[in-house]
This record gives sequence, C-alpha cells and structure tokens, in this order.
Amino acid sequence: MKLLHLDASVLGDHSVTRQLTGAIVARWQAHVPGLEVTHRDLDAAPIPHLAGSVLGGTDDMERARGEATLQQFLEADVVVVGAPMYNFGIPSTLKAWIDRIAVNGRTFRYTANGPEGLARGKRVVVATAAGGVHGGQPTDFVEPYLRQLFGFLGISDIEFVRADGIGLSPEHRAKAIDTALAALPEPLRKAA
Ligand SMILES: Cc1cc2nc3c(=O)[nH]c(=O)nc-3n(C[C@H](O)[C@H](O)[C@H](O)COP(=O)(O)O)c2cc1C
Repeated sequence: MKLLHLDASVLGDHSVTRQLTGAIVARWQAHVPGLEVTHRDLDAAPIPHLAGSVLGGTDDMERARGEATLQQFLEADVVVVGAPMYNFGIPSTLKAWIDRIAVNGRTFRYTANGPEGLARGKRVVVATAAGGVHGGQPTDFVEPYLRQLFGFLGISDIEFVRADGIGLSPEHRAKAIDTALAALPEPLRKAA
C-alpha cells in the first residue's frame, strides 16, 4: 500500500497540522505492514504556480515535473494532507499541488451526464488547524473546498481531523491538539 503524505504549513516545528499528519502517518505505519510512505513538503519544496507555459507545453521540464506530481498522486492508495487555514482557505502551496493533480482526462472528465471523477478508490485524510473556530461555519473555506475538490476527482472516502481555536489560548491549543490526536481515523477499515 502506498501513502502520500503532504504538508504545507509554514510554521515548521510549531505547526499543528504537521504534528497531526505525523501522528496519522505513524498510525498507518504501525498498522499496515510494508506501507510505502512518500513525504512531500510543499513549504520546503514548493511546486511553481501553474503557468501558461506549462499548459501550453512550451516548458518541457515543468511539464515533466507536473506529470511526476500527478503520477505520485495516482499511485497513492492513501493521501494524508496537512491543510492549515491561511486567510480562510488552504495555503497557496497546497493549491499549486492541486492545480497539478486536477487534470481533465486524467483525474476527472466531463461527460454528457456531468463531470466524472477518475481517481476513485483512494482514501484521503486531511488534518486541518485554525487560529479561530471555523468547523461547520460559513467562514471555513478549507473543509468544504477539499471535500468538493476530492469528491470531484471521484474520492468520496475523505475524513477530517480538526484542531480549531489554536490561537485562543495555550490551554485551548493543547486541548484542541489532544482532542484531535485522540480521534485519528482507523487505518484498517474497509475503504468505501
Ligand atoms: C499566514 C497565516 C494566515 C492565517 N489565517 C488564518 C485565518 O484566516 N483564520 C484563522 O482562524 N486562523 C488563521 N491563521 C492561524 C492558523 O490557522 C493556525 O496558526 C494554525 O495552527 C495553522 O496550522 P499550522 O500550525 O499547521 O500552520 C493563520 C496563520 C497564518 C500563519
């Protein structure tokens, strides 16, 4: 089984989402023998914005890098995504990754009956954290966006681990992290 681990936080060792994705991946490693983990740090090694030269095919190196990013996603059985809330949405580095994996004809296509996701059969686990409390609120553009995006690609098996209110107080931060860590998804249930 292949697991793709993505982090996007700019806060390094102080990052909440990095702590949560690390715990999620460690849990998978403890339960799934032979698990192949690939870690991609989108902060340390950001993917360039999608540009016209990539889509137009004039930048061969960038196109090859985009194809490798897409292949890495297609090959993954499980994708663990660290998605901190920055300015109410996901970090732009994570969006740059999404722009390379949402590809017409590869991970989705349009049909007479509407759009069809082509990346079925994967499981996605998202760890998200926010300074304020946004879960289930109209101010949250992280969880609804990622549900829409992965659902559009054909992935309905998506779970969220949330740590809200990180900025309220040190006590609140510690409690939100503990609560999130106590409710990590089970690695070995049948994928939907
Ligand atoms: C650039 C930046 C933008 C942020 N924007 C928001 C925001 O819009 N709403 C919010 O509640 N918290 C916001 N925060 C707080 C983060 O969501 C919070 O620090 C969270 O822990 C981020 O996850 P991380 O620790 O993994 O980076 C922001 C933090 C940073 C660094």
